Amino acid sequence: MYDIVLKNGWAVLPEGIVQTDIGIHDGRIQAIGHLEEPSNKIVDCTELWILPGFIDPHTHVHWPFLQAFTQDNFTQATKAAIYGGTTCIIDFALQKDTSARNAVSSRREEIENQIHCDVGLSLAITDPNELDFSGWADLSQQVLAFKGYMIYRNRGMMLDDGRLLQLMQISKHTNRLLTIHAENQSLHDHFLGFAQSEDPASPIGWAKAKPPMIEEEAIRRAMWLAKQVGIPIYFRHVSSHGGITAIREAQKDQPVYAETCPQYLTLDQGLYNREDGALWVMSPPLRNSNDRDALWDELWNGTVTTIGSDHCLFEPEQKRWPSFAQIPNGIPGVETRATVVWNEMRNRGIPHEQAVKCLTSVMSTQVAQTFGLYPRKGVITVDADADLAIFEASPVNLSPNKLHMGSSWSPFAEVGAFGRIRHTIVRGQLKILDGEWTDQEPNGKFITQN
Ligand code: URP
Ligand code: ZN
Repeated sequence: MYDIVLKNGWAVLPEGIVQTDIGIHDGRIQAIGHLEEPSNKIVDCTELWILPGFIDPHTHVHWPFLQAFTQDNFTQATKAAIYGGTTCIIDFALQKDTSARNAVSSRREEIENQIHCDVGLSLAITDPNELDFSGWADLSQQVLAFKGYMIYRNRGMMLDDGRLLQLMQISKHTNRLLTIHAENQSLHDHFLGFAQSEDPASPIGWAKAKPPMIEEEAIRRAMWLAKQVGIPIYFRHVSSHGGITAIREAQKDQPVYAETCPQYLTLDQGLYNREDGALWVMSPPLRNSNDRDALWDELWNGTVTTIGSDHCLFEPEQKRWPSFAQIPNGIPGVETRATVVWNEMRNRGIPHEQAVKCLTSVMSTQVAQTFGLYPRKGVITVDADADLAIFEASPVNLSPNKLHMGSSWSPFAEVGAFGRIRHTIVRGQLKILDGEWTDQEPNGKFITQN
């Protein structure tokens, strides 16, 4: 007896797209094929795509930026994620202002018993000296990855090259993936001075203060260091033509992973010229069509490994500052990630089958593989967690009042979106049925690699 059978959907399996039934029992996928056995529930999936649940490798729930905090919590964010077909998010613990051990344990307290989908952590390390190798090895069991910042000196988060090298050695010793926010602080300081002297108020200055070269230089430097140490390296939110091209070249002889985000694939820096341009201030900033086209080319080439949302929900009143340099960085997006990317694929004339295969790779399978969750997650196969996103090709409204992130604005509201999540299943529980929440308790799990 199955708990749920998904009937007759187009499932994206490792061997290809197949029209099939999927039987779920006890939170796992139990069978794939033509199923006749009884089931407590049957969900007709005719004409729907069944994808492995999306995994968001990059969210910032209730996250500090100087004096500000993002305006959500894990209950709200995981519910919104599920509305968007995401069944697992990877958020952060931040060592700064506390100890690394405290950072992880207090984040776990914020998460456990509060979440609707599964949540894992990356640990952002701002002081690699705090623990010795054995201390880091012990702590690393609780997190899926480490993160290092090459910028944000004013937030006390930046690692200089020496400390970055030290973090790379920790990554090697603990066998934990090192993920990097790559921007050159000193070049940013230089360009910021010019941009502020031109016009300190207009947010277009943010794009001028962070031109693509500051990302490309930092990526090249970090790759060179990672090669000396002999570790794989993962770049967060790659936004530029120069950055992604450098990664493509390096991938020929060292393991390098590239994450980009829906905003860098779809939005233009011209938004900073609008009266409400401050809303889109983020790091790295929005770019132009040359950068977007390069990211799309490298998505099809396989250079881009993952797409994360970099969800970071600041409200408009938090973004009102006299100078663009003071604006908290980040935009909400945990709910809209797949739809926005699917919609842009459609705009670019990509056939549906190619689009669903690509979504499966960069939003699920490759995230699971890179962060050590595969094949428990990231794939539709017998014995995997029954995490599934069931998707249809139909229009969807991305206005803030139609979304569930708790944000009063939506960065993608003006995107004429297409591609709707019809049902979402998390560990065998039907959380979204026909686009509606099924009113369940927060019973997601905190996950580690073991
Ligand atoms: O602009 C971005 N990427 N915001 C995320 C939060 C942070 O601290 O970088
Ligand atoms: Zn981020």
